[in-house]
This record gives sequence, C-alpha cells and structure tokens, in this order.
Amino acid sequence: MRVGANCPAIKERINMPNNVVVLGTQWGDEGKGKIADLLTTTADIVVRSQGGNNAGHTLVVGDKKVVVRLVPSGILHSSSLCLIGSGVVVSPEALFGEIEELKASGITDAEQRIKLSAASSLLLPVHVAIDKASELKRGKNAIGTTGRGIGPCYEDKIARRGLRIGDLYDMEIFKEKLANLLDYRNFALKNYFGAEEVSFDSIMDGIMKVRDRILAMVADVSAILADARASGKKVLFEGAQGTFLDIDYGTYPFVTSSNTVAGGCCTGSGAGPRHIDYVLGICKAYTTRVGGGPFPTELDNQIGEDIRARGFEFGAVTGRPRRVGWYDAVAMRRAVDINSLSGLALMKIDVLDGMEELCICTKYKLSDGTLSDLPPLAAYEYAKVTPVYETMPGWSESTVGVTKFEELPENAKKYIRRLEELAGVPVAIISTGPEREQTIMLIDPMA
Ligand code: GDP
Ligand code: IMO
Ligand code: MG
Repeated sequence: MRVGANCPAIKERINMPNNVVVLGTQWGDEGKGKIADLLTTTADIVVRSQGGNNAGHTLVVGDKKVVVRLVPSGILHSSSLCLIGSGVVVSPEALFGEIEELKASGITDAEQRIKLSAASSLLLPVHVAIDKASELKRGKNAIGTTGRGIGPCYEDKIARRGLRIGDLYDMEIFKEKLANLLDYRNFALKNYFGAEEVSFDSIMDGIMKVRDRILAMVADVSAILADARASGKKVLFEGAQGTFLDIDYGTYPFVTSSNTVAGGCCTGSGAGPRHIDYVLGICKAYTTRVGGGPFPTELDNQIGEDIRARGFEFGAVTGRPRRVGWYDAVAMRRAVDINSLSGLALMKIDVLDGMEELCICTKYKLSDGTLSDLPPLAAYEYAKVTPVYETMPGWSESTVGVTKFEELPENAKKYIRRLEELAGVPVAIISTGPEREQTIMLIDPMA
C-alpha cells in the first residue's frame, strides 16, 4: 500500500480525473504548449513521454514568451514537478541550453524540478550528424526533419546499440558502448554519406562536463507516477508532435520516429493504460504542417498565405514557414479513434476572424474515385487523395480574447459546433489567443 492511499480525502481525489493526456491531433504545432501550461495550474506533475528537442511548445504569459523543447511545459508553474520519461530522446546539450534559457527568463529552479528516467535515450552529436547527412542524401525526397538527430537516436534505441541516461553511472561500460556506437555510425558517415566523422573524444568531453548534473536529475519516473496516483496527485501527460507524425499511424515516411498517439504516453512514461482518465486532443481550427509529406487540404495560395501571416505560422524550433490548409475532419476521425479522445481543444479560432467563407474537408476522394470517411493507412495512397469540402460562412467580428461561448459571433459558434459534430467528441476548450486567459473553458479536463 502506497503512502496516504487509505486517507478518505485522498480516496475521493483518486476517483477524479487525475491523469490527463494532452496531445496533437494533426501534424504538430496545434497549441499543446498553451494548453499544457494552462492545465498545469491544477496539475502537480507534467510528463513528457516521447520525442525530444524537435518539439517547440510556446507558452505566453503576459508579455513573456517562452519556448520549451525538451522540458515539459509545466515548468512555468513553480510547484510543478516535470518528468522526462523513458520514451524521450535526451540531448544533454539541448537540455542544459534550455535550462539556461529558462534561468534567463526568471525560472531559476528548473534543474531541481526536472527528473529524468534512467531508461531515456541519450541523444549525441553523432545522431545530429547522421540526421543531417541522411537528409542531404535523400535530396528531393528529404523528410524535412528538424535536424536535431531524433530519428537516428531512435534507430539506435531500437537496434539495441543506443546509450541511455543510466549508462552514465558506469563510465567504463559507457565508453565501451560509445566506442561500439561510433564504430558503426562513423563507418556510415564516412563511407556511405561521405560526411565528416564524429570523434570519440569530443563526445566524451561534452558528456563529462555534464555527467554529474545529469545523474543528479535521474529518478524512477514510473514509481513517481505510481506514488502520485496513490496519493491522488494530478498528472498531465504532454504529447509532442501530432497524430499524423506518428511513426505507425502517420503519413510514413514523412513522420517523426516516435509514437505520438495516446498509447505512446503509457509506454514512454511507465503509466499503465487503465490509469489514463481523459485524453484531450489539441487541434487548430485549420491545419498546418512543417516539412515534407502529403497534406490534402493544403492551401498553396493567397488564402493560405493570409492565414499563415495572421496565425504567425512559423516553426518554433526551426523558424520554417508552416504549410497551411483547411480543417480536415477526415483525418480528425482517425485521430479520435486511435487516441480514444475524450474531448477537443480547438485552437486559434481568432485567426479565422474576417474570412468570408470557410471550408471543411468532410470526405476524401480516393485514387479509384470512391469516397472515404477515413484517411487511408497506406502512405502512398494518402498522397493521392483529393479533399471533398463543405463550406460555411465566416464572421467579420473579432473573437480575440473572448472567454465565453455565448459571446462568440453566431457563425463562429456554428463552425465550432459543426467541427464537434463531425469529430463526434465534445469541444472542451476553445482558444481565442496565445495567452492563458484567452480561453473559453467549456469542460475542464482536470476537474
Ligand atoms: P505546440 O507545438 O503544439 O505547443 O504549438 P506551437 O507553440 O509550436 O505553435 C502554436 C502557436 O500558436 C504558438 O505561437 C502559440 O503562442 C500560438 N497560439 C496558441 N493558441 C493560440 C490561439 O488561440 N490564437 C492565436 N492567435 N495563437 C495561438
Ligand atoms: P511540436 O511538439 C511540427 C516534423 C518535422 C518533419 C518530421 C520529422 O512542436 O508539435 P524529426 O526532426 O522529428 O525527425 O522530423 O516531423 N516535426 C514537427 N512538426 N511540430 C513538431 O513538434 C515537430 N516535430 C517534428 O518538421 O516533418
Ligand atoms: Mg510546436
């Protein structure tokens, strides 16, 4: 029996939705950071379970804007514990760089509040070198990765030659593993990619500078989560990337290398699936994508450019302009199913202010001419679908900062209700601006 589990007040809290997942339902950058930060007002712990510093989650509080990449978005709340689970690929350079940035914006205790799983993977400069070299080699078929070494690090994990945070405890074994890894990777860098090799000494120098600091942050993440559950603490699982960037369910090979869907938060943190109470799917009121790959509703025209400018759709990590398109209700149906979504947070509704007409993709026309309510699972088919649209009138009034559903323009209400109907799950949150307060909370997933 865990400490406190017998206390009646705690038992009561245990029956509340304590474990909430926040994840992306599109191709990333949906606004997960804003919502994770907002919900952390009532969360005790925030966990990242997959991805790495390819993520870029923007948090805006007053005139302060913070972008977190590897660090969970809960870091802005002084009482929250931030966990990095076994499914995350951790670049020490990126982690400590981010901790320094946080210090500069006044968050001085980040290092003490972040705990790392010993089983999380160590992302090293050699992974960055391989990522860049493979993108160059792919030429016109490049995936458009963030160039942070994410894919190669997961490759090494799955091939069982990767290094983990826990390997830092025994430096003799660490050195042996690193030598093996570099033997393999440098052979490819030199002979296959024709690129520069990465030296053993340069990696060791970098690691030795931060080894003690990293080890001081190591903790048993799954045990912390089990204790939190027993004592009725509230835990928020913060997804990175989005459903259609998932390695299995995304538009492969134009995806990231982790499971971004809800299941990934269990395997990547050590929380069992029965303990997830609510899965909140974050989606924009339109769609964006960074990097290559199919995007049926893409607006490669003036409308797309206008939305990009109004929504400031430029990558938080790489600064690349995001591709922009209409809302895709077909893709959303798949996202609802595979994530077992409880509700939606509909973001950036304000960006659509002033548009005469809005299109919603309700079906895909497949390459054989048949209509489908669901996206194809075969990626090569995905590139061949054409969207079938229904149109709705837009609204001329401003929705910026609206906090009550009743105060939205009638046509905005109709648009939102239609998206809800098509998704088949309730819209729990509507976001009307980047700041915490610019939010309509219809259902509080943490309450
Ligand atoms: P994430 O990766 O899912 O956390 O999303 P990003 O932070 O990469 O991108 C979302 C962007 O939209 C950020 O610049 C946010 O500040 C901004 N944002 C979030 N919600 C809203 C909103 O409702 N309206 C507007 N205009 N901007 C928003
Ligand atoms: P957040 O968490 C949007 C995209 C890259 C590329 C593909 C593979 O901020 O939503 P990778 O570097 O992961 O191997 O790149 O995935 N990508 C993202 N797109 N938001 C992200 O994160 C992304 N993380 C990766 O652009 O197409
Ligand atoms: Mg982002």
